[in-house]
Amino acid sequence: MLPQSRELRLESYKPRFFRRLFAIESSVFTDDRYNLELFRHLCEDNRDLLLVARLGNRTIGYVMGEPHPRGAEVISLAVSPRYRNRGVGRRLMRRLLIRMERTGIVRVFLMVREGNAAAISLYRSLGFRRVRRVPEYYGDGEAAIRMRLEFD
Ligand SMILES: CC(C)(COP(=O)(O)OP(=O)(O)OC[C@H]1O[C@@H](n2cnc3c(N)ncnc32)[C@H](O)[C@@H]1OP(=O)(O)O)[C@@H](O)C(=O)NCCC(=O)NCCS
Repeated sequence: MLPQSRELRLESYKPRFFRRLFAIESSVFTDDRYNLELFRHLCEDNRDLLLVARLGNRTIGYVMGEPHPRGAEVISLAVSPRYRNRGVGRRLMRRLLIRMERTGIVRVFLMVREGNAAAISLYRSLGFRRVRRVPEYYGDGEAAIRMRLEFD
């Protein structure tokens, strides 16, 4: 847990957070990152399912979901490297899932790199299960694992 966990806040997206979110996204993801204009559209279109982690006045992570005909998709999750392993990613995901369930969404999907042990472990602990492997899904040739969570 964060030593300063009392100060961690999960806030709804506001346009003033955009630059920092894009900086986090660009630094964390490599060849599969979004370009600026697409990322801006995604933030605006999905603001009801976009949560921002703030510590004091710093923006340290975010999670974004997108509604989808059969449920919803978690389309991006990132925590700044220096704030990892302190429960921020888990809190973001849990809050997003609660918000999705409350809006009547019944199942949630995501794609994750096959080699991303940290994210796969987090998703499994939240109840996501593997659906299938998608070979060469990413630009560098790495496979993706498709995961799904069904709300009861
Ligand atoms: C994945 C990510 C968001 C996790 O954020 P975080 O704040 O560090 O995660 P938390 O501290 O909340 O940890 C939650 C769980 O993730 C898993 N986890 C986190 N880091 C891990 C690691 N290095 N190795 C294995 N599991 C790990 C554990 O299951 C952990 O639960 P535990 O603390 O009860 O063991 C973060 O590592 C990140 O931003 N990675 C780069 C971007 C990315 O991969 N996004 C997901 C794309 S699908």
